[in-house]
Amino acid sequence: MQDKLEKIKKEALDKLADIKKLNLLEALEKEYLGRKGQLTAILRNLSSMSDEDKKKIGKLSNEIKVELSEKFKEAKDIIIGSARGGNYVDVSIPGQKIKQGHIHPITQVMGDLEKLFSSMGFMVLDGPELESDHYNFTALNIPADHPARDMQDTFYIDTKNKNNEHDMVMRTHTSPVQVRAMQKYGAPIKCVVPGRVFRNEATDATHDTTFYQIEGLMVGEGISLANLKAVLQDVLNGIFQEEVGMRIRPGYFPFVEPGLEIDIACTICKGAKCPACKHTGWLEMLGSGMIHPEVLKYGGVDPEKYSGFAFGIGVTRLAMMKYKIDDIRLFNSGDLRFMEQF
Ligand code: DAH
Repeated sequence: MQDKLEKIKKEALDKLADIKKLNLLEALEKEYLGRKGQLTAILRNLSSMSDEDKKKIGKLSNEIKVELSEKFKEAKDIIIGSARGGNYVDVSIPGQKIKQGHIHPITQVMGDLEKLFSSMGFMVLDGPELESDHYNFTALNIPADHPARDMQDTFYIDTKNKNNEHDMVMRTHTSPVQVRAMQKYGAPIKCVVPGRVFRNEATDATHDTTFYQIEGLMVGEGISLANLKAVLQDVLNGIFQEEVGMRIRPGYFPFVEPGLEIDIACTICKGAKCPACKHTGWLEMLGSGMIHPEVLKYGGVDPEKYSGFAFGIGVTRLAMMKYKIDDIRLFNSGDLRFMEQF
C-alpha cells in the first residue's frame, strides 16, 4: 500500500511537471485529489484496514495529499502569473475608496484672488489676527474715544497692560496690515492681504463673528483716483471673468480720503433689476479710497511725496455671491453636507 501511495505521488508530480495549461492542471488535480480521485479513494478505504495500517497509511496519504495540494497551488500561480505577464496583480479587484477632503469654498475663492493679484504684481502679505488696538484702530486714523470706533465692535483681550498702545483685540478688518506693510517695506509698494477678521456681531444670515477679507494697497508717486479705478476695474473683471459694470459712490471710512463705496452691476440680471440686487441693479462690492495722509504718516511714508489707494473686499461675501449661498453661518458650521458640495 505504501508503495502504491509513493507511486501515485510520483506519477502526479511527473505529470504536473509537463502541464502548462490551467484547464489541464485542474483536470489533473481532480484526478488525484478530487472527490473521486485516487488518493481520496485510499483514504476512504482506511476504515477497512488494520489499526496499524490505518495509522501508517492514513498519515502517509495525508502527507502526500498536503504536499500535492501545495505543488498544484504553486503550479497554478505560475501558470496564471505568466499568462498575465509575470508579477501578477489582479487589477480587476475593486480597490478601497480613498476618502478625499474638499477645499473649503472660502479657500478656493481666496486662492483665485491671490493668483489674480500676483499676476498684477501685488505681493501677498500676512498679518496677525490678534492685533494691537494701535494697528487695528489708532494707526488707521480712528483715535480712542472717536465715534468711528462704533463702526466695528470687536472682542477685546483682557491684558494686564491697559494702555492703548498695548491693548489687544481680535482684528476687525485686514486694514491694519496696510500700516504694517508700509512700515516694513516703505514706498512704493503694491500688496494684498488675505485673512480672517472678527466682529462682535449678533449673527444672522448675513452677519457672522468670523469672516474673511482681502485688503489691497498701492502707494507710489503720483498715484491717483484714476489708478484706483483702472486697477479695480481689472480686478473685478478678473474675479467675475467678464467685463463688469462698476459704480463709484462716496463712502466714509476713517482711513481714506476721499472714501468710496464700489458697486458692481448685478451679476445675475446685469443691471436689469432682480431680487438678488434688491431691484436696484447694483451689488455692493467693496470699500476703497485714497489713503489718508495720517495713515501714510503712521506707516512712515511721507504724504507730501507719496499717495496711494487702498481697498477692502469681503471675501466671504464674494464666495456667497459666487456659489449662491444664502446663509453666511454655513461657512463656519463644519457641516459636511454643506462642505461636500464644493
Ligand atoms: N476695512 C473696511 C471694513 O472692514 C473695508 C475697507 C474700506 C478697506 C475702505 C479699505 C478701504 O482699504 O479703503 O469695513
